[in-house]
Amino acid sequence: MEPILCGVQAGTSVKDVPRVLSCIQPTGSVHLGNYLGALVNWVSGQHEADVYHGIVDLHALTVTDEPGVLGAQTLDLAAMLFAVGLDPQVATVFVQSHIHEHSELAWIMECTVSFGELSRMTQFKDKSAKREGEFVSAGLFTYPALQAADILLYDAQDVPVGEDQRQHIEITRDIAVRFNHRFGDTFILPKAVHPKAGARVMDLQDPTSKMSKSSTTENGIVYLLDENSVIEKKFKRAVTDSDGVVAYDRETKPGVANLLDILSACTQTPIDTLVSQYSQYGPLKKDTGDAVIALLEPIRQRFHELHNDPAELSRLLSVGNDRAREVAAATLARAHSAIGLLPRI
Ligand code: TYM
Repeated sequence: MEPILCGVQAGTSVKDVPRVLSCIQPTGSVHLGNYLGALVNWVSGQHEADVYHGIVDLHALTVTDEPGVLGAQTLDLAAMLFAVGLDPQVATVFVQSHIHEHSELAWIMECTVSFGELSRMTQFKDKSAKREGEFVSAGLFTYPALQAADILLYDAQDVPVGEDQRQHIEITRDIAVRFNHRFGDTFILPKAVHPKAGARVMDLQDPTSKMSKSSTTENGIVYLLDENSVIEKKFKRAVTDSDGVVAYDRETKPGVANLLDILSACTQTPIDTLVSQYSQYGPLKKDTGDAVIALLEPIRQRFHELHNDPAELSRLLSVGNDRAREVAAATLARAHSAIGLLPRI
């Protein structure tokens, strides 16, 4: 993990190791795409870096307006983050809305990004098109400014995410560069970190679309809490193609390529080795399902244990919030002072 600094002294990790930040929205259940694309890297990175992971409930507000739902989903997601292996002793897990600095820096980010840049974001174009005729919030449009605040507040050098977040990390860098140019070096320039395999897990029923919480076909999504028999069935029914050759080609054979990617991510086996081991789709589907089950079964067990103890979860989050708040407050103060806002009186 090569830190990319831009002359900033203040705010670098006190532990003198790289600073990592990444976040996840508490909307719907966590799926295999979230896990292989992001969470695996969060867990593997926690002992070599100073890691911050946010449950970004304010981001979820861009698409959620049902009262009384987000709080419970936040607690469920916390249980899942600890169940996949984040260790509260070393990883700082926090709730975005509990750290007011996120909203405050987001405004400054909104004033540092242009309307044109936000208009070019593919996520906004996709999500607003899907909601045609429905309410499209301004928050959906300014979403990347809040995400930039999430990242820059923690002086993050590395941001472990799936490929779908690439554009959001790029715009965060652009915002940081512009701010530093206007007001002097203040923010560290972050970079996206993707896993070798699993950075873009596709829908099992429609392998040209990414696996996503907003997908219409339940059979295409594997949830971390799915029972073994359900996972087995979903992989058995996975859409492939009719030419019957096991080869890795995302363009012409997206279904088979997706299975190979998932199996590679689950077993740490290079794709080429897997291609040489299979000549039929049936065994490939079966082994991929089995590899996913082997990975998810212990996570599911830990989730249920943790989920039964909401008081302990709240305690762990409050410890994470305190640690996160300390870093976020210092960075926001640095930004205010760089801009030259009148010091608080
Ligand atoms: P979210 O909540 O949609 O997803 C959380 C993480 O899961 C990854 N992911 C995938 N990876 C591979 N294949 C897939 N099919 C797949 N689907 C989701 C995402 O890339 C992400 O890493 N905007 C972010 C949340 C966010 C954030 C941040 C992330 C807010 N602030 C700051 C990093 C840093 C999002 O909606 O992720």
